[in-house]
Amino acid sequence: MHASEPPQTELAFTTNPGLEDLVAAEFRERLAAHDLEPTTLDHRPARFPGWVNLRHPAALETLLAPARAMRSVHHVLRPVAAFELEGDRPLELLEARLRELDFPELADAAPFRVTSERLGEHTFTSHDLQRVAGAVLVDRYAAPVDLKGYAVNIRVDVHGTRCAVAVQCTRKALSNRYRRADNPRVALRANVAYACLRLGAVGRDTRRILDPYCGSATVLLEAGELLPGAELYGGDWNARSVAGARRNLENAGLAGRARVEQADARHLAEHYPEGFFDAVVTNPPYGMRIGKDIQFFPFYAGLLRRTGTVLRAGGRLVVLVRKRGAFNEAVKQVGGLRIRHIQVVETSNLYPAIFVLEKQ
Ligand SMILES: C[S@@+](CC[C@H](N)C(=O)[O-])C[C@H]1O[C@@H](n2cnc3c(N)ncnc32)[C@H](O)[C@@H]1O
Repeated sequence: MHASEPPQTELAFTTNPGLEDLVAAEFRERLAAHDLEPTTLDHRPARFPGWVNLRHPAALETLLAPARAMRSVHHVLRPVAAFELEGDRPLELLEARLRELDFPELADAAPFRVTSERLGEHTFTSHDLQRVAGAVLVDRYAAPVDLKGYAVNIRVDVHGTRCAVAVQCTRKALSNRYRRADNPRVALRANVAYACLRLGAVGRDTRRILDPYCGSATVLLEAGELLPGAELYGGDWNARSVAGARRNLENAGLAGRARVEQADARHLAEHYPEGFFDAVVTNPPYGMRIGKDIQFFPFYAGLLRRTGTVLRAGGRLVVLVRKRGAFNEAVKQVGGLRIRHIQVVETSNLYPAIFVLEKQ
């Protein structure tokens, strides 16, 4: 660092790969809302997909308030070090590096745990990483390992040959923010729902929003918090999903503004008047776990036609699309909706694109 440069605090966020720029943009807004200078934020592309590494002159404690208010991320981290784990003895290398690093969080022998995310082919497991790191830290700080009652969570993540060591500043993932009675495997993460609403510029002037494939209602839960005046409409053809969605909305205090019906999205236009909605935001089945027999072009063409009818002019459709070619073709053939933005995002090892369209 140059002698005249102010000291910088390093902070990192984890998110879904593809959303890194959106995270940096959201954090700039959060800094401004906390009277912290957003222009001094330094955002460098991280070597880990889904990590957003940032530097700012404010102290860590000061940055943690806006950081913990983030909606587009999973976790907030204090990065400690990043290095290559190469050679025949990667675990010995890890041990040696950890002996050189400082963890002031453990100075008073606070109970801790080590977690790790490992991506790629390795001769060691995640459990090996945790075991080696745990042993070094017990030895150095006389701190006990406590997997449940921990005060400090150290992360040792390895992607390929790259290893990142960090202190996790969030206990539960910030994206796991809803108390869900029903949480199906196909549920969208709340931070991706946030990204859909944000990329779609679905603003506070929204009066009515619809998710016709609402599942457990993640989009509606997120919309309920972000759009205080909006009525929240949901549909799903599965009775269990409808019951779960209603309970989730009730738990969030949103039942008064929400209407969730058991309905087939293919008959959408019969349920609502023309031009009724300001926004339709949804992730329809990808055809992986459910709906394996989907023919994508007619599926998307039907979705576009029906949404085009129930959206008002200038209204937004935001949809997670797994088959981009079929969707683009359907947009061309159906007409009436203009593509405003496309952003690919990784969710559960799939790479759907968030399409934002505007009704003409
Ligand atoms: C990918 S999931 C949506 C997950 C949801 N965003 C959440 O967070 O839980 C797709 C949902 O569409 C529903 N679905 C599939 N085909 C449908 C149809 N024709 N009409 C209505 N719902 C349908 C499924 O029951 C499922 O709940």
